[in-house]
Amino acid sequence: MPQPRKEGRDPDSRATLTSNQPNNAFPNHVAIIMDGNGRWAQSRHLLRSRGHQVGAKVVKECVEEASRLGVKLLTLYAFSIENWKRPKTEVSFLMRLLERFLAQEEPHLMKNNVVLESIGRIEALPAGVRSQLQRVKEATSSNTGLRLCLALNYGGRAEIADAAKKIAQRVKDGTLSVEQIDEDTVRQHLYADAHGRQYPDPDLVIRTAGEMRLSNFLLWQASYAELYVTDVCWPDFRPEHLRAAVAEYARRERKFGGLKGSTGVPHQSSDGLVLDSAVSGSDTH
Ligand code: FPP
Repeated sequence: MPQPRKEGRDPDSRATLTSNQPNNAFPNHVAIIMDGNGRWAQSRHLLRSRGHQVGAKVVKECVEEASRLGVKLLTLYAFSIENWKRPKTEVSFLMRLLERFLAQEEPHLMKNNVVLESIGRIEALPAGVRSQLQRVKEATSSNTGLRLCLALNYGGRAEIADAAKKIAQRVKDGTLSVEQIDEDTVRQHLYADAHGRQYPDPDLVIRTAGEMRLSNFLLWQASYAELYVTDVCWPDFRPEHLRAAVAEYARRERKFGGLKGSTGVPHQSSDGLVLDSAVSGSDTH
C-alpha cells in the first residue's frame, strides 16, 4: 500500500499545500466535473472517443494523487443523465470504456486501498457496466483509504426528484409524517445515504475546460462547496492541477452563509438582533 510521503519535506505534500494559507484547510471531499474530452480531441484532429480514452487514464492518475494527498472522498462526474442525448456511437463507446475501466482497475484500486462507490440511476446502466461495478464495489468494500464515488447516469434534479418520491412513499406507508420532513430527511433519501453510506457535502468542486456552471452535478450537496474552474481540458489534467486546486481551496475562507471571521456562535444584542461576535460586514454568501 503506498504510504503518504513524509510531510514537511515534500513540496507536494498536503501540509505544504495548505500551510501558511489564511484558511489552512484541506478539502476532504473533492468532486470533479471532468469536461473537455471532446474539445481536447478535436483540437488535435482526433476522434472524440480518443479524448474519452485519454480521460480514463487521467482518472487513474487523479485517483492515485487524491489518495496520496489524503483526500477522503473523490466524486467523479463520469456520465450524466443528459449524456444519453449524445450520438448512440459515443454513448456506447463511453459505456464500453467504463466497463473496461472497471474490469481492469480492480488491482490498481486494491493497491491504493480505494473503496469504489457510485451514485446515480445505476439500474438503467447496461448490464455489463452494472455487473463490473457491483463486482469491484464488493472487492474493494473492506479497503480503508480513499472513497472513489463514480457519478453514473447521474443528475442532481433527478436525485432530488427520486428522493421526493421515496419520501412520499414513506408518508403514504405511514412510516413518516409530513411534519417530520426536514433537510435531513431529504439528505437521507439521496442516492448515497439511501444506500446506507454517509456522503458528506463536497468541500471543493473542480470543473475542467473552463465552463462556469454546475451542469446538474450534486445540486443539493454542493450548496456551499468552493468552486474551482480551470481552463485545462480533462485529458490534460495532471496531479499538479489537482494540487493547485487544493492549494487554492486552502486560500478560500468558507462562511456557510455567516460572516467573515465568524466564530459561528451567535449572540443576542439588546435590541434582540442576533449578532455574531466577529462581524466584519462582508457579504454573506
Ligand atoms: C466530458 O467531456 C466528459 C464526459 C461526458 C465523460 C467523462 C468520461 C471520462 C473522463 C472517461 C471515462 C471515465 C471513467 C470513470 C473511466 P465532453 O465530451 O463533454 O467534452 P467537450 O465538452 O469538449 O465536448
